[in-house]
Amino acid sequence: MDLVVNPVKSVAGTIKVPGDKSISHRALIIGALANGTTTINGFLHAADCLSTASCLKKLGVKITNISEDIVEVEGVSLFNFKKPTSILDVANSGTTLRMLPGVLAAQNFDSSLTGDESVKKRPVDRIIRPLRQMGADITAVDDLYAPIQIHGRPLSGISYATPVPSAQVKSAILLAGLLADGLTTVSETAVSRDHTERMLKYFGAQIETGDKTATITGKTFLKGSQVIIPGDISSAAFFIVAALIIPNSRINIQQVGVNPTRMGLIEVLTEMGGKIDQSNWFSQANEPRADLIVASSSLNGTTIKSEIIPQIIDELPIIAVAATQARGVTAVEGAGELRIKETDRISAITTELNKMGAEITEKEDGFIVKGPVKLKGATVNSYGDHRMAMALAIAGSVAEGKTVVCNSDCVGISFPGFDKMFKQVIND
Ligand code: S3P
Repeated sequence: MDLVVNPVKSVAGTIKVPGDKSISHRALIIGALANGTTTINGFLHAADCLSTASCLKKLGVKITNISEDIVEVEGVSLFNFKKPTSILDVANSGTTLRMLPGVLAAQNFDSSLTGDESVKKRPVDRIIRPLRQMGADITAVDDLYAPIQIHGRPLSGISYATPVPSAQVKSAILLAGLLADGLTTVSETAVSRDHTERMLKYFGAQIETGDKTATITGKTFLKGSQVIIPGDISSAAFFIVAALIIPNSRINIQQVGVNPTRMGLIEVLTEMGGKIDQSNWFSQANEPRADLIVASSSLNGTTIKSEIIPQIIDELPIIAVAATQARGVTAVEGAGELRIKETDRISAITTELNKMGAEITEKEDGFIVKGPVKLKGATVNSYGDHRMAMALAIAGSVAEGKTVVCNSDCVGISFPGFDKMFKQVIND
């Protein structure tokens, strides 16, 4: 499917974006590890989370009402998963590929994981190294890429400093730590999202968190719980930027997750001059949420450095779009991780925005944007990457003439219904 976008005069209205993707994966996995039933309200019914559900089902976990408002997971407890009868297919989901081995490495059976062509290019040495230190028997193609083979066996706690700040890596280690003997500590060089720590605590795990560290006590039993998932700030990001850069716009996005480790986007856009207010703040299931009220703003360029990158890693393509409309230079540094996402997002966003007349230069670990520039409609490619497709659609809405985003079915990876919600708020 191609997404056809015409210039938009303004965006206005009140919306609620779908549930948080990261929290949805964790609710399924941690619910499966618990004793008793977990109910999940606000689950993200998108392809990536459904991949986690289908892998867990193959591991003997009963998940009911997966397409309904309230999903139910019958926890099997820490070690009662069943040996799968076939390879676990994570499809496009890097989060499933990196997190599930933490659970599987400690089970008393063999298992293997694979995924689509994009996932098979995403490095897994980052989880293999620490899991091996814990005693795991785990291999991959060149120790780098899926398929991953796991020969389950008992694990022991370790203290591990991750070279790459990554919530997926941290989560794999903490999940393995839950199943290991003794204590497991993970430390990072920059703060990554902490949904795993928060949810494990909510389910009763013994987990202590400090400045860029988390320590979990192994073999503590978890209790099935009620999880209420907030809207995904990474999905809200497209509407936030649309409202900021399209004149005469004002939008209210209700009950968005405002976990401090995910607020990099709001920090950066506010620093650029964006008017973003929060109201109705409350916390549920250990995750804060609020309504975000966003109004058109005149933006200025900024410099984004490595320390904040893990907290905006998924929002950098849409930040690049915002930067094309900002006065001055926006420089992104220390974001080499972007090259190993669903596609090489540094190369993809610079190539495609340049096709639209942007002044954006590719750097090894980031990009530099000069603005403001009046974008021109063009035929652009998502590279099968959901966040690229949506970022380019928003670029199209401030461009002159028609933009066609090719290969945009991929939006269903994280935001089914994006197109419909976009049409709901635009005045053209
Ligand atoms: C995620 C962590 C991030 C992010 C991904 C989801 C998670 O990846 O890009 O979309 O749910 O833990 P990294 O941990 O590899 O940075």
